[in-house]
Amino acid sequence: MHFLITGGGTREYIDLVRFISNASSGKMGYALARAALKAGHKVTLITVPTTQRVLSGAKIIKVETAAQMFEAVRKHFSRCGCLIMAAAVADYTVARPAKTKIKKTDKSLTIKLKPTVDILKWAGKHKGKNQVVVGFALEDKNIRARAEKKLKEKNLDMIVVNSPAAIGSDKAAVEIKTGGGKWLRLRKAGKTIVAKKIIADIENITW
Ligand code: CTP
Repeated sequence: MHFLITGGGTREYIDLVRFISNASSGKMGYALARAALKAGHKVTLITVPTTQRVLSGAKIIKVETAAQMFEAVRKHFSRCGCLIMAAAVADYTVARPAKTKIKKTDKSLTIKLKPTVDILKWAGKHKGKNQVVVGFALEDKNIRARAEKKLKEKNLDMIVVNSPAAIGSDKAAVEIKTGGGKWLRLRKAGKTIVAKKIIADIENITW
């Protein structure tokens, strides 16, 4: 199968040199890409710059912003069997980024944000009959109920729920739910092990 995987936290530029981002390390995206390659799949990884080791065997597409990630997903989506949105995509971007470096003054500064496109929702809406779309959710309360709402609303085949503690960490404790299936709780483990399990679960949906 051809996996299209996204990873890392997008960067939303305020001016030429400053951006708003989040604490995502890109580890889960890379771990998923490695696990899929190891299982014999073809992989395209759309990634924000990270400190992750170079990944050989996959096609790597480098992006920075949510808008660039959306363009890249749109371009490659029709050719993949499974999209995994592991990236921490910004929900908001800067409404009017400055074209030059903003100079400091002694006044307060207000930055107006506008919503980004929900890439996962777009993919759920446009997926073909044999395509699988997997989303991630970061929840701290009412985990299962909120994730199930996302699974339905975004027309996903599987959702993987992370807790905030997993962000930037080498380990994750996740809960997984497929469309028709039951909740599955994976004990805290290295992201390599968690990724291998997620890829195996996706293989079970498709075969
Ligand atoms: N996502 C996306 N495009 C966005 C924002 C998020 O594709 N503009 C994807 C993420 O890659 C992840 C999933 O949506 O797979 C879950 O994102 P999350 O932030 O948990 O959910 P939201 O729908 O943004 O809702 P909320 O932040 O209110 O929980």
